[in-house]
Amino acid sequence: MPDSSHRLIPAGFPLLPSLGAVPAVTVASAASTASVAVGYPVAPDGALPAELGLDWEALRVYGFEGKPGQTFAVPKLGAPDVVVVGIGADDVRTEAKLRDVVAAFVRAERRASALSFVVGESYPLDEVTIGRAVAEAAVLARYAYTPLKTSSKHVALAAFEIVTPLDSGLVEDGVQEGLVLARAAAVARDLANTPPGHLTAAVFADLAVSVGPKYGLEVTVADKAELIALGCGGILGVNAGSVEEPRMIVLHYVPQGGATAKTHLALVGKGIMFDSGGISLKPSDPMHLLMKMDMGGAAAVFGAMTALQDSGCASEVTAYLMCTDNMPSGSATKLGDVLTIRGGTTVEVKNTDAEGRLVMSDALVLASELKPAAIIDIATLTGAALMALGPSTAALFANDVPLATRVAAAASATDEPVWQLPLEKKYRPQIDSDIADLSNLGGKYAGATTAALFLAEFVGDIPWAHLDIAGTMNSDTDDSWRSKGATGYGARLLARLLVDYPTS
Ligand code: BES
Ligand code: ZN
Ligand code: ZN
Repeated sequence: MPDSSHRLIPAGFPLLPSLGAVPAVTVASAASTASVAVGYPVAPDGALPAELGLDWEALRVYGFEGKPGQTFAVPKLGAPDVVVVGIGADDVRTEAKLRDVVAAFVRAERRASALSFVVGESYPLDEVTIGRAVAEAAVLARYAYTPLKTSSKHVALAAFEIVTPLDSGLVEDGVQEGLVLARAAAVARDLANTPPGHLTAAVFADLAVSVGPKYGLEVTVADKAELIALGCGGILGVNAGSVEEPRMIVLHYVPQGGATAKTHLALVGKGIMFDSGGISLKPSDPMHLLMKMDMGGAAAVFGAMTALQDSGCASEVTAYLMCTDNMPSGSATKLGDVLTIRGGTTVEVKNTDAEGRLVMSDALVLASELKPAAIIDIATLTGAALMALGPSTAALFANDVPLATRVAAAASATDEPVWQLPLEKKYRPQIDSDIADLSNLGGKYAGATTAALFLAEFVGDIPWAHLDIAGTMNSDTDDSWRSKGATGYGARLLARLLVDYPTS
């Protein structure tokens, strides 16, 4: 057993604080006087709320032009403050833009625990979409990770009211969907923000076992001995240098009355609890503070899985979270060592920092054995994905056009952008090895592609999509509903993908 007594982690340390802090989101036809502020979306030169008591001439003097995300607050005595929130001149009012507007309002009123927001009749989105987008933005824009602050100035959002003349029942349905999806993303953020010493693979597995059943998940965990019995030489090889044991967490969701579920889908998440690079030690760089988030894929899968029951997902889903840290030590995997992945494929380790593909391949084989309709994996896999697409867009690879189209549709619905890159077969020889079936290292260029080509070796002809989220796992700044730190990227995308997947 590793000795972690020096960390003085209190018993009962809150690992998923977001689960206990969901605001009451309600729908009303008039703003409650209990709110601290009421937000009104306003287009440049558009109609202004009478409650504001100012005209455009005055607003312009204060510098408010109605640009997207701009806010201007007028304090009122004995009534909620009035806040105008710019929505921009462009009249394409998408779900994503509504989220951005609500997020701007919630951030402008960061000290308020009760807020109202007005959505007029003319908003060109259906009621369910409006409720969902507003609830998601309200929760996610107020998110903060505070369990390790001995005193925090963060004000939780206790109540958020949507003021609208629209059908309140339908808006409420959307709110319920939105709260479940926002919770999924917040859970993923909590996990990825937690320090690596607080969230080891074993702690993550215990957590999954304790909270999974509440969300309709059957949770099984493979420890080191069981991974040996399963022949999972990829994750075992990555774990070899660590004093912490590895865990494979398997989450299984069967819809209610599940014997009738026709579609079985599989997910795989990279769960490197900390990536030091191993023997190919990463050089000193502030970027490596982020390597506690190298389990962002597993966090997104876990978050998404917590949403299935409450979203009424009609497919059966099995998810594999491959959890271990990647550490150098006298027992670590050496360069030139050969690992045997489940199923027998041998891999020469030419760089221990290309560890993600090693842990993922065991799980892709296990997932393929289930013969699912599709496998979707998500991993903070390559710096090359960050270099190519930056921090806002994830790289998508797939061996199946309809599946890639579904992933792109879910990504666009949740505003978690993806861009598909080609699985360029010409580069496949780069991952050949002289002494084993494969090498874990490609050439100098197209690193995200050679990593994806490696993963593709383990899925046979099952429809498969791979999301490389190395760029999108973290945000350096508060950006709309994405809070500084772990973004929870992928949790909502995967949940929408699974829930919307056709069942026949
Ligand atoms: N976890 C990293 C990828 C990463 C980089 C995630 C930056 C988030 C931000 C991964 O394990 C890694 O180190 N990949 C190497 C692969 C290389 C050795 C082939 C990389 O991208 O440099
Ligand atoms: Zn690495
Ligand atoms: Zn890694």
